[in-house]
Amino acid sequence: MIRKEVLPIVSNKQIAHESYELVLKSEYISSSAIPGQFLHVSIRNHTLRRPLSIAAVDQINDTVTLLYKVVGSGTSDLITYNENDELDVLGPSGNGFVLDDLEKNDEVLLIGGGIGVPPLHFLAQKLAQKQVKMTMVLGFLSKEYMFYEAEFKALGHTIIATDNGSYGEKGRVTDVDLSDYNFKHYYSCGPLPMLKAVKEKYAHLSGFLSFEERFGCGVGACFACVIPTKDDAGYKKICQNGPVFSSEEVLI
Ligand code: FES
Repeated sequence: MIRKEVLPIVSNKQIAHESYELVLKSEYISSSAIPGQFLHVSIRNHTLRRPLSIAAVDQINDTVTLLYKVVGSGTSDLITYNENDELDVLGPSGNGFVLDDLEKNDEVLLIGGGIGVPPLHFLAQKLAQKQVKMTMVLGFLSKEYMFYEAEFKALGHTIIATDNGSYGEKGRVTDVDLSDYNFKHYYSCGPLPMLKAVKEKYAHLSGFLSFEERFGCGVGACFACVIPTKDDAGYKKICQNGPVFSSEEVLI
């Protein structure tokens, strides 16, 4: 259930070029959020809340971690918040990844790029608890944009790709050859062109796609975030019905 809470900030620090890690204290969110969900964060002097993906939860210390990229005035102001400041959030929001049919030793692929990487880390945390075998392919523009390599490696087999080849494999995440693997599902998060490429390359698998497009109103009122689906209604709203959809459902 979505709740409005004012949460103390544990830390807010830069972890890569233009990328920041924000840790908040919340027993409710750390115990109730599922991977793929996000929080709507209110930033002082900005009317619209910003949707930020959940990158990790820690149920021992009751914290929730959000990773965000500085992409405009809202997130530029968010970096000025310090430890012990408070943040007004709504959440956890959105439909998350479906993990119900996964069992111990099933093999899955997690594949994402840029700001689509954070939700995959939360997902990897949950899958590691279920003892699911993961191969994670993470794409970044270049080495300076890369984050959480060690955190992912602690959870499973991790392959890094950079567009310019400054670290890991050179090229896009969909360029990585995984033909020797036998995945049950894939889970992907990132910009639309990447999701399209993933859906096409892994058309033989059932998968889940999380759309990282910036929302408008974020509450289902403005139709800024619609995507075509096979559903009778024709279109669904990412902010209300997503951000996660099954690969069979969406027409991209
Ligand atoms: Fe306004 Fe989704 S962002 S309807």
